[in-house]
Amino acid sequence: MTLNIGWIGCGRHASQMLLPQLVREDVRIAAVCDINPSRAADVARQYGVSEIFSDARDLLAHPGLDAIGLAIGPAAHLEIGRAALQRGLPVFMEKPPGASHEDALRLQEASEKAGKPLVVGFMKRFSVGNKIARTVIDRDFGSPLGFYGSYMTAPTYFKGSADYTDFLLHHCVHYMDLPAHLVGPIAAMEPRVIEKEPGKILLHIAMEFENGAIGTLIMGTVQSRGTPMEFVQVMGDHRRIEIDNIIGVSYHRDPPFKSDNPEASLIDGEDTLTWRPNFTAAANEDFKGYHALLKETLSAFRGERNSAPLIEDGATAMRWLETVRTSLPA
Ligand SMILES: NC(=O)c1ccc[n+]([C@@H]2O[C@H](COP(=O)([O-])OP(=O)(O)OC[C@H]3O[C@@H](n4cnc5c(N)ncnc54)[C@H](O)[C@@H]3O)[C@@H](O)[C@H]2O)c1
Repeated sequence: MTLNIGWIGCGRHASQMLLPQLVREDVRIAAVCDINPSRAADVARQYGVSEIFSDARDLLAHPGLDAIGLAIGPAAHLEIGRAALQRGLPVFMEKPPGASHEDALRLQEASEKAGKPLVVGFMKRFSVGNKIARTVIDRDFGSPLGFYGSYMTAPTYFKGSADYTDFLLHHCVHYMDLPAHLVGPIAAMEPRVIEKEPGKILLHIAMEFENGAIGTLIMGTVQSRGTPMEFVQVMGDHRRIEIDNIIGVSYHRDPPFKSDNPEASLIDGEDTLTWRPNFTAAANEDFKGYHALLKETLSAFRGERNSAPLIEDGATAMRWLETVRTSLPA
């Protein structure tokens, strides 16, 4: 069944990343809304939409919509997300789910009250390397022992400002969710922080997981976005999986030494497995995971089995974000 989607927030992320992946599925973008008329008009032209709004309340009142997509920002996600749920519509919401843990809880309450799913845009769960890692961990690791992750960004958005709100809400929130997705629920976080100058910050966060695993998470605003920004390692007993920049996967196991063995070779089941994508394939491949996330979202909207991240996961991530926030310079 074709789902009629009302889309609110036609900025860079929606127009470049989300909508091109969404329309690969059986949907119709039935109405769009942005307070900036030229952005709404642009997206309407690209996706053949005739119903164009500048006020989200008018879009929500439009008849015939099956679900709502939002890519706006923290405060509007709370306000418009709640209004959409109150209207009885399922919602996809980019991160962050509101501006605080409290906001996320209010969204969770609205979703429960409406009996409709609220999916949060944690696409890193579906980024190709992380997806492979999760399958291997579930299959081979038993209970993981350790997590190490580095998720950096530049001071671009925060330069000269000691207010790290956007850094937390738009960047760090992803890694309040991903470690839990790979290792299990987080039990504790203890951040250490160095600030070179206002806007330039580095965090090392000691983590504990409910299953006993330990971890370290590095985040900050002191690296260029022109370099690879992400690295993840999950460690088990005589095995570890590493994901470099989401597209380079290495799975190390327990091979014998090679140097003194004249017949040394590579052994199935023991030596390292590696994977990298073929970037020359003429296909709209989904390395970052937006398509997989949106596909699961549509299954959630249709009431089918799915693995979409829900507002409960969003609220948990926002709770840990508060712990990180309290460690930052005022
Ligand atoms: N998961 C990811 O990889 C990822 C990447 C980028 C952005 N995002 C998230 O997506 C959201 C949007 O980011 P962006 O980069 O597209 O920002 P953007 O500023 O380019 O787009 C936001 C759009 O929302 C519109 N808008 C603002 N208030 C509105 C309102 N009340 N009603 C209707 N429209 C309104 C703005 O005019 C703008 O066009 C943010 O929450 C951001 O964190 C996620």
